[in-house]
Amino acid sequence: MRTTLPELARMSAVGVPIAMLTCYDASFARALETCGVDVLLIGDSLGMVIQGHASPNPVTLADIAYHTAAVQRGSQKALILSDMPFGSSQISPADTFRNAVPLIQAGAQCVKIEGGSEMAATVEFLVHRGIPVCAHVGMTPQSHNQFGGFRVQGKDEPGAARMVQAARDLEQAGACMILMECIPRSLAERICDSVQVPTIGIGASPACSGQVLVLQDVIGLGPERLPRLAKDFSPGTEGVSGAVRAYVADVKARRFPDAAHCY
Ligand code: KIV
Repeated sequence: MRTTLPELARMSAVGVPIAMLTCYDASFARALETCGVDVLLIGDSLGMVIQGHASPNPVTLADIAYHTAAVQRGSQKALILSDMPFGSSQISPADTFRNAVPLIQAGAQCVKIEGGSEMAATVEFLVHRGIPVCAHVGMTPQSHNQFGGFRVQGKDEPGAARMVQAARDLEQAGACMILMECIPRSLAERICDSVQVPTIGIGASPACSGQVLVLQDVIGLGPERLPRLAKDFSPGTEGVSGAVRAYVADVKARRFPDAAHCY
């Protein structure tokens, strides 16, 4: 039986940390869930780690649907979350719904949409029509051109207050999870205190309901200089499953992220 969104909400409510990793194919899907990963994210990071681009923005809907189907076929237990890639969620709520359909048909149980309060109407439109949405706030990589790079967001008080409000608005609109990326730890904790739905961090805080990282970074296949939010778990472990089990164990014990991996 596959993990469901209500089960993730229950884990969060009783304080059992959620371990999420990106995944793009059937072999890794099988291996990751065997190692205890609760959620497989078909992230648009595949633009970088699979396709070799410098950003996620060249990734298409067809790419995400293809990799979602592969992950779905390779796994039986983990919840499947798929990214809405750049250009697929920005035009209108109806357009976003139409674009989410092939991802759900490929096996996604939930789609992830980047953005703040301006995306609340879109989230509401999808949720009212049967498509669960995970909201992604903070350093949203599809907007890296506007940020001038992949930079920490929410460092000043007006920016932080806007992000807290965005998380509230997105929850109010029906988002079933709030993922926050590359923000100060204190802001992550304010957001966690401001919403009831599960929160997932990447460069955020160990106080989040769960954590996510890019698989390649965890197993030692990331870039030579990893961003601060990432960690290579492969040193001292045996193979892919050793590194993944070490990541899952550290997330479940709330040992990761420690101060060295927060902002
Ligand atoms: O695309 C991705 O990998 C993500 C992250 C949150 C890891 O969105």
